[in-house]
Amino acid sequence: MSKHSKKHETAFGIDIGGSGIKGAPVDLHDGEFADDRLRIPTPQPATPDAVAKTVAEIVDSFDLGKHVPIGVTFPAVMLHGVAQSAANVDESWIGTDAEKLFSKATDRTVVAVNDADAAGYAEVLYGAAKDVKGVVLVVTLGTGIGSALVVDGRLVPNTELGHLEIDGHDAESRAAESARDRDGLDWEQWAQRLQRYFSVVENLFWPDLIVVGGGVSKHDEDFLPLLDLRTKIVPAKLRNAAGIVGAAALAAEADD
Ligand code: BGC
Repeated sequence: MSKHSKKHETAFGIDIGGSGIKGAPVDLHDGEFADDRLRIPTPQPATPDAVAKTVAEIVDSFDLGKHVPIGVTFPAVMLHGVAQSAANVDESWIGTDAEKLFSKATDRTVVAVNDADAAGYAEVLYGAAKDVKGVVLVVTLGTGIGSALVVDGRLVPNTELGHLEIDGHDAESRAAESARDRDGLDWEQWAQRLQRYFSVVENLFWPDLIVVGGGVSKHDEDFLPLLDLRTKIVPAKLRNAAGIVGAAALAAEADD
């Protein structure tokens, strides 16, 4: 048995993003991919039915035992598998029971979770926050800002700290990676926005550790040293594998 799941050695993770849908089997002992990852471009428009078809295509491309747990990430609030918001995705997702839809499309039980929750949980199990006790906050900087709050190893789902209202703005509209691109900011200018964002966050949550994820976390040396925070802040370790790994781990636990 794996260290984390009582029943499973392996689980399958799928990460649904704006441009690609990626899946791979995950070895739950070490959080590594157990086979090559498959990526299929996200269908446009990314309606629930079109995405479900791609999810099924990915699952069918692997030779998975019938009882391998499957976890899927989605960039929205996911209350017990039902999408509740659509900040950066097709509006038609609101109210969609993603677990039901993906389970039907794949003819298996599928667990659907928020993308940042999956990525954050993976960092706690296998990455930058491994063995850290207390309150860990993982913040992903991408098209939007996602957050995962993990307390003594237990995930508090759907925290949505990207949508804190700061200085009259939805925080992600100013501090996400996409805002850096959109506004043509250099690292110093973007870091000023991050400084404001993380100061508010640390004063509200008082985490023991902040982990910064998302694609831009590989450039951590360009912006993390510019931040002056009370809380220790480190880059994510699992990089773009985090969503797949976390979704797999959460699906395995849901089946324990
Ligand atoms: C969404 C979150 C998501 C984050 C990162 C936000 O706009 O509201 O649910 O986790 O973007 O994709």
